[in-house]
Amino acid sequence: MELKETIEKTFAERFGEKGTLYASAGRINLIGEHTDYNGGFVFPGAIDKVIMADIRPNGTDRVRVYSIDIDDYAEFGLTEADAPSQSWARYIFGVCREVIKRGGKVEGFDAVFAGNVPLGAGLSSSAALESCFAFALNDLFNDNSIDKFELARIGQSTEHNYCGVNCGIMDQFASVFGKKDHLMRLDCRSMEYEYFPFHPEGYSLVLVDSAVKHELADSPYNKRRQSCERVAKRLGIDTLRDATMEDLDAIRTDITAEDYFRAKYVIEEKQRVLDVCDALVAGDYDTVGRCMYETHRGLSKDYEVSCEELDFLNDLARDCGVTGSRIMGGGFGGCTINLVKNELLPEFTARARADFKARYGHEPKIYEVIISDGARRVE
Ligand code: GLA
Repeated sequence: MELKETIEKTFAERFGEKGTLYASAGRINLIGEHTDYNGGFVFPGAIDKVIMADIRPNGTDRVRVYSIDIDDYAEFGLTEADAPSQSWARYIFGVCREVIKRGGKVEGFDAVFAGNVPLGAGLSSSAALESCFAFALNDLFNDNSIDKFELARIGQSTEHNYCGVNCGIMDQFASVFGKKDHLMRLDCRSMEYEYFPFHPEGYSLVLVDSAVKHELADSPYNKRRQSCERVAKRLGIDTLRDATMEDLDAIRTDITAEDYFRAKYVIEEKQRVLDVCDALVAGDYDTVGRCMYETHRGLSKDYEVSCEELDFLNDLARDCGVTGSRIMGGGFGGCTINLVKNELLPEFTARARADFKARYGHEPKIYEVIISDGARRVE
């Protein structure tokens, strides 16, 4: 059964009648990693994998929600004291609370949701969940008066205030603003964004999901962010967006080696995003690919958010002659994103499966990326 039918059927069984269906997407990011919270650029797109929810106001002040994938039910009120104990439900509770904190209206509702965004792969299933509910609450209770950036911020604040992850805006932005066949360059300082048509003639974008996750808590992510903020403070600027390598080298002896290399990566990555956007417009995929490999090196050696399995997949891609490859997302596991010439695709995917399995005992999951729409009402 299709996702939509499964959700509608389950909603009818649990709550009777029909609700309204909403969906929001997971995301990829071509380049610009760990730059969002540094005021830099990101270049994401929404994908064809979604979280979908059937929702109906229930005339009470309680939220009743069932997760098909986790097979778990939660019920909670809408005041700060009502936080549910299940971590998955805290995302939905957080979104409700963040809408209310902004003066928006939320009343009780019933919901059933499920998704096909792979969990733990770095495709931001949590942002898809937040954006789906933020979009729905705006449509159901607020006449769509909350603007799209605020919807993205509602998801981001949910991560900060209810889930302990001090994330940037990229994932929620991509999930809310995503547009079929387009990547989006977002300037995370000015919040200006631009859609770039994405049709890489002769190439495919492929995710190789290592299916490993080395860090259970998100403290290493928050620690990276703290390093960047320390260096920015030392330089007397708001974010590393405004730093150059000359600025950084001038204070090198005053900061720890670790902070130096974290900031170096961020400063270099800022320029790479701009270079990739130019190269994409010019159809210069070799430059796009070279920048992706450079990003991987920076994330692995300077920012230290890679892991053995992802470095292995990156080496393997290079060895196969793949045009570009890098770790994608927050790091410490998840997937690599690969720009692969179509004629190389069968060989690359076969080797990724076989070699990875021979080394780590399980096959990676492989997905072709299809750039799709973000948050929406499903008719
Ligand atoms: C996670 C965060 C994003 C971003 C990426 C790294 O996905 O949620 O805000 O910082 O990591 O680029």
